[in-house]
Amino acid sequence: MRKTAWLIMIVAAVGLIGGVKAFSGAAAPEDMCVPMGKIVLKAPDGVQSKRSAVEFPHARHFDIACITCHHTWGLTEPIAGCMTSGCHDLAEIAKPKPGQPRDDGTDITYFRAAYHKLCINCHKEAKIKSLALQKALKTSSKPMPKTGPTSCSECHPK
Ligand code: HEC
Ligand code: HEC
Ligand code: HEC
Repeated sequence: MRKTAWLIMIVAAVGLIGGVKAFSGAAAPEDMCVPMGKIVLKAPDGVQSKRSAVEFPHARHFDIACITCHHTWGLTEPIAGCMTSGCHDLAEIAKPKPGQPRDDGTDITYFRAAYHKLCINCHKEAKIKSLALQKALKTSSKPMPKTGPTSCSECHPK
């Protein structure tokens, strides 16, 4: 008798979970696929790349809050790519608006400016903090935590 009661409870529980999943649809956050390995970041279609594509070790960045990079993510919907239309999908430096000075390459609707600002700024700041800490602790002999690449060829091998 007891065994059947347990069985009924388990079946009911599984049914409930299945039901909730079916209800919430394919884009449910519990179904989200998170790339763990290297994501290859490349220029949008139509751009003649001068540099090789960047191999970005995604999971190596998981001690940083997801929304530092996925800054439009509301935590419930699927994550939008960086080059979603109207975000950072401009293939070349923005044309100057009439009467305005030429963009100096820092307008982040341009994909390269967006990536360089996000990626390089953090690595630079991390390096500065690490060096300051190293100085304060006088631990120059001990290896400090890695801070990410800041030179061209470390991200673009070619
Ligand atoms: C240092 C920046 C950074 C951090 C932190 C980060 N991601 Fe990402 N993530 C990226 C980039 C860049 C891409 C590639 C986006 C693209 O292709 O446009 C990406 C792609 C993704 C994708 C695939 C999106 C797609 O277009 O299919 C998912 C899902 C994702 N990240 C989840 C996460 C989660 C969850 C976290 C936190 C645990 C996280 N990310 C932390 C930078 C980051
Ligand atoms: C908010 C800070 C932050 C942002 C944003 C960030 N990184 Fe990093 N990155 C780090 C830190 C810290 C490390 C060192 C972590 C480690 O190696 O364990 C790192 C490591 C790396 C490495 C590994 C280098 C090696 O030793 O193999 C690469 C490549 C890299 N980052 C590329 C990128 C790219 C490309 C982006 C932009 C899409 C990016 N990072 C954005 C903080 C950041
Ligand atoms: C932290 C990593 C990182 C560093 C350091 C870095 N870049 Fe980039 N760069 C990227 C990412 C990510 C993109 C966007 C994806 C792509 O186009 O490969 C990009 C795009 C570009 C592009 C536009 C696409 C192309 O290939 O024509 C150029 C040019 C470029 N970078 C040159 C440089 C130069 C020059 C330096 C050194 C002054 C540099 N990058 C340093 C990550 C980096």
